[in-house]
Amino acid sequence: MARKKIIAGNWKMNMTPSEAVSLVETLKPLVVNDEVDVVFCVPAIDIIPAMEAAKGTNINIGAENMYFEEKGAYTGEISPLMLKDAGVQYVIIGHSERREYFAETDETVNKKVLKAFEHGLTPIICCGESLTQREQGITLDWIRQQIKIAFLNVTADQAKTAVIAYEPIWAIGTGKVATTEQAEEVCAAIRVCIGEIYDQATADAIRIQYGGSVSASSAPELFAQPNIDGGLVGGASLKPDFGKIVNYK
Ligand code: PGA
Repeated sequence: MARKKIIAGNWKMNMTPSEAVSLVETLKPLVVNDEVDVVFCVPAIDIIPAMEAAKGTNINIGAENMYFEEKGAYTGEISPLMLKDAGVQYVIIGHSERREYFAETDETVNKKVLKAFEHGLTPIICCGESLTQREQGITLDWIRQQIKIAFLNVTADQAKTAVIAYEPIWAIGTGKVATTEQAEEVCAAIRVCIGEIYDQATADAIRIQYGGSVSASSAPELFAQPNIDGGLVGGASLKPDFGKIVNYK
């Protein structure tokens, strides 16, 4: 069975709750496409108003992060129970900005992934190499290690439903999109790695996105690759251009 594309916006730390509502209103008519799962991952405080604004549409409101405990003395964190209760399905885990500025590691990513699955949430698990790593020729080794740790103790049935976002760090927010060949090469290697950890059926089922300066002009070629099942989109998800990305064909 063909994998359904999944195109997710990552709003990052943008949009106040009232701005979030107007952005959802603006994008609503532009992102209609039944062939694609459309997700807006928004700041925690925007989840409820955005969800309200997206009611009755094909837009799924997702989260940008969560903690790996259900509740307790973890000031400032968001729990999987809170996301679940708010009606969230998708949650980004281990974005490179969280790794760089908030000390997330492959190990905390794994804990969060396990916790997300425990509560029936679908993680969008981020991986990606730095420019130095790419220049050193260690991209594939690095990504394989990130994937192996992220999926430790995750069952095949869970892994089949997961989403992986391959986001080369040097392509994020820089306007420097990876070439189609570079993006497809790594996404294909990720699928092989999942096949090694689990089996071919799991590798065939898991959805792998590309992220990093995706735009209306680069999306069609990227999303046409056999191993690229959609995108994780930052900057362009805040603009009407996101409608063109969702309707990339
Ligand atoms: P960008 O961000 O599209 O602005 O490069 C992508 C991301 O960080 O998910």
